[in-house]
Amino acid sequence: MTRTFDPSPLPEHLLADLLATALRAPSAGFSQGVHFLVLQGDDLARFWQVSGAGGWFAGTQPGVLQAPVLVVALAEAAAYTARYSAADKAGHGLEDAANWPVPYWLTDTAMAVQNLLLLAEAHGLGALWFGLFGEARAALDDAGVPSTVTPVGAVALGHRAHGEAPSGSPTTIARRPTADVLHRGRW
Ligand SMILES: Cc1cc2nc3c(=O)[nH]c(=O)nc-3n(C[C@H](O)[C@H](O)[C@H](O)COP(=O)(O)O)c2cc1C
Repeated sequence: MTRTFDPSPLPEHLLADLLATALRAPSAGFSQGVHFLVLQGDDLARFWQVSGAGGWFAGTQPGVLQAPVLVVALAEAAAYTARYSAADKAGHGLEDAANWPVPYWLTDTAMAVQNLLLLAEAHGLGALWFGLFGEARAALDDAGVPSTVTPVGAVALGHRAHGEAPSGSPTTIARRPTADVLHRGRW
């Protein structure tokens, strides 16, 4: 994750390509209920302000606020319940979101985000995936996002600042050995 960005904009054709490619993530039943809300310029400044996230980053990781693009990852559960109401998917009770043992609209959104993070890395760009707390809903209402759509998190995206270096938890917490989390045959 990058937490100090260079404010220079991303070429529009590159941004459009990264976003469209990232959205080619798999989705349960091909429900395709994953959305990105892309914010730049005045829209982004307003999001930082209304959501409260701007104030939080200003006090903790101000370099994030220099990112020229913010991609809010949104999960539309209704696309999944509609898809699983169709004849070829009926019979499992999945037309009701409460019955999903795993809410795949969230996992599918996370996969599209991981695509975006990998694409950013492949293009030598920086990205930070972060959780949305505070008044995120107010900011999304402001941007016309339906109240039934869940914001899963957001990706700040842009060029890394010159000399940018890792600053997050991995600088103080050791990575768990693979053998701790890779289980063959049994836990
Ligand atoms: C679901 C999720 C939420 C995260 N939320 C935040 C966040 O709110 N703020 C932040 O600075 N980093 C956040 N991160 C980034 C993690 O701290 C980071 O991925 C982890 O420390 C490993 O660092 P690396 O990605 O640089 O290897 C989040 C990561 C994930 C997967």
